[in-house]
Amino acid sequence: MNRILVTGGAGFIGSNFVRMILDEEPGVLVVNLDKLTYAGNLENLGGYMKKANHKFVKGDICNGDMVEKLIDEYKIEAIINFAAESHVDRSISEPKVFIDTNVTGTLTLLEAARDKKLTRFVQVSTDEVYGSLKPDDPEFSERTLISPNSPYSASKAAADHLVRAFGHTWNLPVNITRCSNNYGAYQFPEKMIPLMINNALNDKPLPVYGDGMQVRDWLYVNDHCRAIWVVLTEAKAGEVYNIGGCNEKTNMEVIRLILKKVGKEESLIKHVADRLGHDRRYAIDAGKIMTELGWKPTVTFEEGLEKTIQWYLDNSAWLSNVVSGDYQKYYQDMYGNR
Ligand code: NAD
Ligand code: DAU
Repeated sequence: MNRILVTGGAGFIGSNFVRMILDEEPGVLVVNLDKLTYAGNLENLGGYMKKANHKFVKGDICNGDMVEKLIDEYKIEAIINFAAESHVDRSISEPKVFIDTNVTGTLTLLEAARDKKLTRFVQVSTDEVYGSLKPDDPEFSERTLISPNSPYSASKAAADHLVRAFGHTWNLPVNITRCSNNYGAYQFPEKMIPLMINNALNDKPLPVYGDGMQVRDWLYVNDHCRAIWVVLTEAKAGEVYNIGGCNEKTNMEVIRLILKKVGKEESLIKHVADRLGHDRRYAIDAGKIMTELGWKPTVTFEEGLEKTIQWYLDNSAWLSNVVSGDYQKYYQDMYGNR
């Protein structure tokens, strides 16, 4: 696969993916289409913006004419769709943009991929489409019923169904990946791990939703990016793959570990009102991608968390630049009066 269109490549996971491909696959041309919403930032791409085999284009995945022009101009072979509205809390306060980008945007890309006869379409989806597990339930497998609980996960599930339908109806060669919670460098500080790291470093309260006993399966972002590349280059068309870190932790466990690693007191923890409809537990059975494609996580949680904390310590300028007025207002609305 030598000529790829990556959407959302200025966001957290997309930019980690783009940098990884530009570092490791010099023969690959990456066209990077991103709308640069509050979550997308060219600083995430830094010196990679100047690379000859990286073409950044500011634009919306809902703009079908532009997508088709890019496919023609750069002779694109495959699309990897990272572009999305990705934050559950925002989907609860403003669901509509999640439908616009995550559903209509994905549909627009699928139509372009079908009409231009691309050889692969990889949809970067999420374990949240499976809903929530009880403490003793088995992990999500690729056969678990889709039961999304938030507007975000419902929009991602709708997109997954469209991807499957394009594969079935028009034989478009598609794959869907469903990954657990990522953490690592360049994650926007509205998500739990960077939010808690940055609040702890600045002696601000750490807002824990409800009892903090919700469980997530954490995966270091570079391991997710490697999995997507393996799916793009080695998977059979039509297959769905779960991706996870085999690393279930309660939020309280993660938050206490962050406080310990940055040397701050647990008195910073502040329990706040719970997220509406909060999913209690996610857990991933990643056996299929491990067995069929030989992928496995390489970074342990302790190691990944230490690297992540160090990255935020070393990149305070990045942080102040990405944290725009939009985020300050959002944060104030979320936590200001609690
Ligand atoms: P992010 O919010 O950090 O980045 C999303 C990017 O998409 C941003 O650069 C944004 O500017 C861009 N974008 C948004 N709307 C767009 C539009 N209409 N047109 C073009 N670009 C647009 O998200 P992330 O955390 O990097 O997640 C990337 C993908 O991975 C998403 O599809 C998400 O559902 C999925 N995912 C995320 C996680 C996680 O833990 N973060 C886990 C599993 C799956
Ligand atoms: O599982 C994959 C999903 O993981 C991705 O599809 C989403 O794009 C990504 O945002 C993430 O969703 P979560 O809702 O699990 O992640 P978030 O970082 O928002 O929250 C993680 C947990 O921490 C969750 O139980 C809510 C809790 N939380 C979060 C925030 C922001 C808090 O207790 N306090 C907070 O301030």
